[in-house]
Amino acid sequence: MPKFTHHVFICGNQRTPGHPRGCCNCDGKDALREAFKSELTRRGLTPLVRANKAGCLDQCEMGPIVVIYPQEIWYGNVQPHDVPRIVEETIIGGRLLDDLLIKDDQLNNTKA
Ligand code: FES
Repeated sequence: MPKFTHHVFICGNQRTPGHPRGCCNCDGKDALREAFKSELTRRGLTPLVRANKAGCLDQCEMGPIVVIYPQEIWYGNVQPHDVPRIVEETIIGGRLLDDLLIKDDQLNNTKA
């Protein structure tokens, strides 16, 4: 079985409304993950590119959060309408999207 070229993890964490850290999937509908699955299928990128639901990725305040491995690309405030652009520019084209990118010094590495 070939290795994935990109493994996209989409935070699907839910919290109660009004939680101070927010959440990435407040309504529990997994719209972002569904958008990735649909776009990857439409573009014929499966199975080499895989989109999986993740638990909290601990970057909640910048959510909804998506991280792409092994490239270690973190995107924040990602909306379903951003997904075709992420697939086209980042996954296919190898280009970072500055408006979504969470830079290393912005990543929360301290909270449990
Ligand atoms: S709830 Fe999505 S990163 Fe924490």
